Amino acid sequence: MVQVPSIKLSSGYDMPQVGFGLWKVDNAIAAKTVYEAIKAGYRLFDGACDYGNEVECGQGVAQAIKEGIVTREELFIVSKLWNTFHDGERVEPIVKKQLADWGVDYFDLYLIHFPVALEYVDPSVRYPPGWHYEGDEIRPSKATIQETWTAFESLVAKGHARSIGISNFQAQLIYDLLRYAKIRPATLQIEHHPYLVQQELLNLAKREGIAVTAYSSFGPASFLEFNMSHASKLTPLIEDDGIKAIAAKYNKDASQVLLRWATQRGLAIIPKSTRVSLMVSNLSSVEFDLSEKDIATISALDRGIRFNQPSNYFPTELLWIFG
Ligand SMILES: NC(=O)c1ccc[n+]([C@@H]2O[C@H](COP(=O)([O-])OP(=O)(O)OC[C@H]3O[C@@H](n4cnc5c(N)ncnc54)[C@H](OP(=O)(O)O)[C@@H]3O)[C@@H](O)[C@H]2O)c1
Repeated sequence: MVQVPSIKLSSGYDMPQVGFGLWKVDNAIAAKTVYEAIKAGYRLFDGACDYGNEVECGQGVAQAIKEGIVTREELFIVSKLWNTFHDGERVEPIVKKQLADWGVDYFDLYLIHFPVALEYVDPSVRYPPGWHYEGDEIRPSKATIQETWTAFESLVAKGHARSIGISNFQAQLIYDLLRYAKIRPATLQIEHHPYLVQQELLNLAKREGIAVTAYSSFGPASFLEFNMSHASKLTPLIEDDGIKAIAAKYNKDASQVLLRWATQRGLAIIPKSTRVSLMVSNLSSVEFDLSEKDIATISALDRGIRFNQPSNYFPTELLWIFG
């Protein structure tokens, strides 16, 4: 079994440095995928209301626990608050629903998915609610991040979440949040790959003691299915000649080099693969070290290109988050 290092969070809890991402894992295979990933050695699962598969993911966890493969305590289950539940009084009820969906009584880490508050949609009307209120309409709510974060702090007090954190936040909002936070965010989850390094944001997080989790570590790979022209025009990172040459030097796969580039620089990673052989390959990316020179070569591929942004899903004049 791969020995996965852990990261000490400001909450005092240890978080595995390599976890498994659950976005776009089809409902039909989610239970089996989570179960197989646990058997492969994954202990951290990165879920979200928005992924629409928390019930099935919980079933995979339940099966693994029932068979004695892991205990709940050995797992690190992450989930996220969707944008339509930012109003303070909406937070606890939806966390309780998400916990029930997973079949667990606490989350190890609960994140604000996006710094965007949208009008409440009752789960009986539509779940997960998605970005649109009705038709093409994007309808904001008046909740501030402070209101949402205060509700997050109550989740810790009530034992619903052990650690709390943020995702897709940029510098200004993090500085603001740190002014009033009684509990500081334990983690910041961001898009991070050699085409989008965001070194200044990483520096900020480091200085403030916030662990960073990288998502979409393979860059455009995860976004090709959205027919995004800037994803399909770029060379896939795992086919980049420079990455392939480094991989050959270490007798590793290009995918493992991309993942190790992140973990060796102190970030956590949450790659997703539905293929068991790739699950194992991704997890075992921690078992070798890149030279500082190779790390710098990979970092120099930075182009500031972001793939996960609202313009994938609706016109930018309706909502803009980054920058
Ligand atoms: N906070 C946020 O807003 C946010 C946004 C995006 C993602 N995330 C989280 O981050 C996780 C990971 O990001 P992601 O799902 O966008 O993308 P990813 O892990 O970078 O890439 C997934 C894609 O790469 C393929 N793949 C995985 N391992 C591979 C390997 N070793 N070699 C070749 N191809 C491989 C997968 O294919 P197969 O599945 O077919 O094997 C899938 O198409 C998500 O699942 C989610 O939990 C969070």
